[in-house]
Amino acid sequence: MKIIKTAAEFSSWRNNQSQTVGFVPTLGALHRGHLSLIETSKKHCALTVVSIFLNPTQFAKNEDLDSYPDTLDDDIENLENLYVDILFLPNKQEMYDHVAAVKVPDSKIFNQLEGASRPHFFYGVTTIVAKLFNVVSPTHTFFGEKDAQQLCIIKQMISDMKYPITLISCPTVRDNNGLALSSRNVYLTISEQNKAGIIYRGLMHIKDALKRDQKNSAVLKQTFTTILSQVPEIQIDYISIACAKTLEEVDIINDRKLLISTAVFFNDVRLIDNFTYQSST
Ligand code: PAF
Repeated sequence: MKIIKTAAEFSSWRNNQSQTVGFVPTLGALHRGHLSLIETSKKHCALTVVSIFLNPTQFAKNEDLDSYPDTLDDDIENLENLYVDILFLPNKQEMYDHVAAVKVPDSKIFNQLEGASRPHFFYGVTTIVAKLFNVVSPTHTFFGEKDAQQLCIIKQMISDMKYPITLISCPTVRDNNGLALSSRNVYLTISEQNKAGIIYRGLMHIKDALKRDQKNSAVLKQTFTTILSQVPEIQIDYISIACAKTLEEVDIINDRKLLISTAVFFNDVRLIDNFTYQSST
């Protein structure tokens, strides 16, 4: 695996490639979820590029930028084991001083769900992903369904900015206890992670109720709240039942595809999860 640290060096590599290039952008602290994105890229594309860049603009001042897990040596070993072709490892100066500014069109969905709780977040994500797309110039890119709103926004950005990139979404990878894998799970002890498995079980109770034709969102959300109240360390930030496309809340379930998503605090660790649902009517 070749490690490239500057956009200029990356471009001189990229200009010599004529095959498909799959791109997996990451913040580092890689886990099995990232590895499954990379494996999917390897299935679809001749070459796979992974970036590790802890993007400061997507963290607010009170968030965990300074304590975000740094596991670079392990990450490199994992990427080498997967025969990744290029690791792009730019630094802040490279991404924000020497790579031209981009202005990504925002939209209403930036401010809903995650964006309501973290107003800075999608501005930071789209800025860096656009810059990375400009440098890496991939033919394909791979994003996880765990970050459902991010996926939706990147899809929109690719379409609005006319990037000639195919976006492939990949299923959420979970621990045996149901907890969606996240780099932030390491902030929890194993016993806390097991307790946090209740988030997924709560979501699956909503799914079961939807299958039993419960149409009232408030009732569905209450089911979730009641189940999660079994773990006193958990505080729900939001539980949302929304149209999967517009992310607008749905009060009475209809036949649109739904995104059921949640963010909770386990003590002070923020965890997110979701599933999509399409009624068969
Ligand atoms: O999902 C992430 O890890 C980040 O938001 C991303 C896409 C790497 C942008 O910094």
